[in-house]
Amino acid sequence: MKTAVVGSGAWGTALAIHLCRNGHDVTMWTFETELIEGMVKDRKNPRLPNAVLPEELKISGDYSCVAGCSLVVMASPSFPIRSVCRGVAPYLSEDAVMVSVTKGLEQGTQKRMSQVVAEETRRPVVVLTGPSHAEEVALNIPTGLLAACEDKALAEFVQDVFMSDSLRVYTSPDPVGAELGAALKNVIALCAGVTDGLGCGDNTKAMLMTRGLTEIARLGCSLGAHKETFAGLSGVGDLIVTCTSMHSRNRRAGILIGQGKPVQQAMQEVGAVVEGYYAAKSAWELGQKQGIDMPITEATYRVLYENADVKDGFYALLTRQRKAEPEDAGWL
Ligand SMILES: NC(=O)c1ccc[n+]([C@@H]2O[C@H](COP(=O)([O-])OP(=O)(O)OC[C@H]3O[C@@H](n4cnc5c(N)ncnc54)[C@H](O)[C@@H]3O)[C@@H](O)[C@H]2O)c1
Repeated sequence: MKTAVVGSGAWGTALAIHLCRNGHDVTMWTFETELIEGMVKDRKNPRLPNAVLPEELKISGDYSCVAGCSLVVMASPSFPIRSVCRGVAPYLSEDAVMVSVTKGLEQGTQKRMSQVVAEETRRPVVVLTGPSHAEEVALNIPTGLLAACEDKALAEFVQDVFMSDSLRVYTSPDPVGAELGAALKNVIALCAGVTDGLGCGDNTKAMLMTRGLTEIARLGCSLGAHKETFAGLSGVGDLIVTCTSMHSRNRRAGILIGQGKPVQQAMQEVGAVVEGYYAAKSAWELGQKQGIDMPITEATYRVLYENADVKDGFYALLTRQRKAEPEDAGWL
């Protein structure tokens, strides 16, 4: 099948390699046109240095490369997603199916990525997400993903395209939950990194991950997500992989901040897009709008955007008013 992957960061590159392995005709669009010559010649992308680009993978800096494609994967970071969608929209086939793999919320509108892709392209969108480091997918290391769409046939179409012996794709009817889990776990991972940087332990991280998932689910359900989605691949699964691995740039940025580095310097040192930084603001705004209590997100937001002291912020989290778990717990 003729496909395009729009975005040549680590994730777009890994998915393009995977689609080639599955026998598809793939073109990868890149924003970094200055890298095209080197990528074509050396079959390497500096954004994903551990991977070899298959000979058959085509690389283009021209939006028109999506023309005639039945499936178009949108793999840019969240901040330029709307402009990239506008770029490809005029060239899309009438029957193109869009696959949204970006993890984030639009700044200012707090829209989910699939909403932005649908608005700009006027095509059906399937969300493909889950616990997946690009470095591992590129090497064909066994991985599980979720293809989420309200239209079951479309979710199954995307499942068929990506499924392989090493990549299991599950379908889901809940794109809202899938995308919110994916976007908001980056905030929790950043905060988990901060606690690592502060010298806390595994207990701390387990508490943060569990309570973080609780607040993600609380916000998600207020926006129509299914609670069970957060117990699946795009919820607890993605949270585990992001909070515990050094592959996670969100966690790495958090560690540097916890060690005392200024926020912008930490982001620069990571050297790749830190979606949790942007998501912290959008999630905090969304929580305010929905009237949802999101203490971990709020503490992270204040450190990232209001220059709050990291230790004070963490201490304030620990010494909040006492709670029950679950909050509506009842005793006989
Ligand atoms: N890396 C992973 O393992 C992984 C896994 C799953 C999902 N994701 C998600 O995929 C998305 C992309 O992440 P990544 O890891 O591929 O990013 P990356 O940091 O590896 O690369 C960023 C890419 O953004 C491009 N870019 C920069 N400015 C741009 C602009 N103005 N317009 C268009 N493109 C621009 C750069 O050229 C580069 O290719 C993120 O939302 C991320 O959360 C990443």
